[in-house]
Amino acid sequence: MSTTSTIAKGLDGIVAAETEMSYIDGINGILEYVGIRIGDLSSNSTFEETVFLLWNRRLPNASELSAFVNELRAAYALPEGMVERIGQLPKDALPMHVLRTLVSELALSDPNPNDNNTKAAQAKAVRILGCAPALVACFDRHRRGLEFVAPDPQRSFASNFLYMLNGSDPTETMVRAFDICMILHADHGLNNSTFAARVIISTLSDVYSALTGAIGSLRGPLHGGANEGVMHMLNEIPSVDDVESYIMGKIQRKEKIMGFGHRIYKAKDPRATDLQSLARKLAEDTGNADLYEKSSRIEQIMERELAHRGIYPNVDFYSATTYFCIGLKLDLFTPMFALSRLGGWSGHIIEQLSDNRLFRPKAQYVGPHDVPYTPMDNR
Ligand code: ACO
Repeated sequence: MSTTSTIAKGLDGIVAAETEMSYIDGINGILEYVGIRIGDLSSNSTFEETVFLLWNRRLPNASELSAFVNELRAAYALPEGMVERIGQLPKDALPMHVLRTLVSELALSDPNPNDNNTKAAQAKAVRILGCAPALVACFDRHRRGLEFVAPDPQRSFASNFLYMLNGSDPTETMVRAFDICMILHADHGLNNSTFAARVIISTLSDVYSALTGAIGSLRGPLHGGANEGVMHMLNEIPSVDDVESYIMGKIQRKEKIMGFGHRIYKAKDPRATDLQSLARKLAEDTGNADLYEKSSRIEQIMERELAHRGIYPNVDFYSATTYFCIGLKLDLFTPMFALSRLGGWSGHIIEQLSDNRLFRPKAQYVGPHDVPYTPMDNR
């Protein structure tokens, strides 16, 4: 009665879509956005330019970039009533739950939320990406009992977020560090959350639903939530001298070390290499050198113990130290990932819509057949 087929658990190795946005060579540790090495972008580009690149599959010229930046800045403001709405949220809510809820809620202030033509979908993407930083900053200030700081359209995406969060001018170093983080996290092939976004939009649902689902996926500790896990781990280790026994204990108990391992990379994630330099510099500058030293020691031990199994640092490992040194609270780490990845998710949603076919894999049924229905009284 049943036919058996091979199951690719976790869809490991399955190619489920084409993309022109990012390319990953997991064996050699290479990541490119539209053919450009990630290190070249993090050294030379800005988040805004990177999003333009991902969405248009080419770098902008000066006037195109300026037009895109202006469009995004015009979208910084929150819809009417949203600040008050955030003021009603429970202060102990997790920021990822808040961001997921509020991105979904943005559909309610869109007069045409279901319009999926390319132009409309891109306009929604700009709208959501533009105001998502204010959603996070507003909620963080609400839970700290502080007044909302309105977005400043004279500022870049990175500068505006830090300004709204702290209510003061961020330093140039912090803005650039944050901008680099945004570039590095913007897109990454068909990772779980991007796949979730593409699966949802493949029903011809809507951009808000697809992004809401992607945020829900990202927060899991096996995905973007790992950066918080890394910080918990660093906090748990009292000093650099305790790293060896802590990590060896975890390995012996067969517990996973957060920030290591990847489905695709069997070499060091190139984003981890970039974030490592950033983390080292920021840790020195902000008096957190011990945090970097602990991280570096963990990496050495993991290299010795697990590199032969292809387990290396991933993007989340050094992003934890980086975000901590930028002054972000631990539960804002994954929302920061989401702010950046909204760029990648949106690009994938538009890519999916341009050549859509409903995602609908099969499950191998492994239950019984021909079971007689037992009346309630006989159960
Ligand atoms: N620490 C210790 N062992 C690990 C780790 C790790 N971080 N990652 C994988 N392994 C081991 C597993 O225990 C497993 O061992 P086994 O074969 O003896 O059972 C083997 O390596 C394969 O691991 P899987 O979890 O099956 O690999 P998969 O490709 O499904 O998962 C994943 C990849 C989820 C990222 C995994 O490496 C992991 O859980 N890492 C820790 C969480 C993390 O850092 N996630 C962020 C990933 S990057 C991102 O999403 C942004």
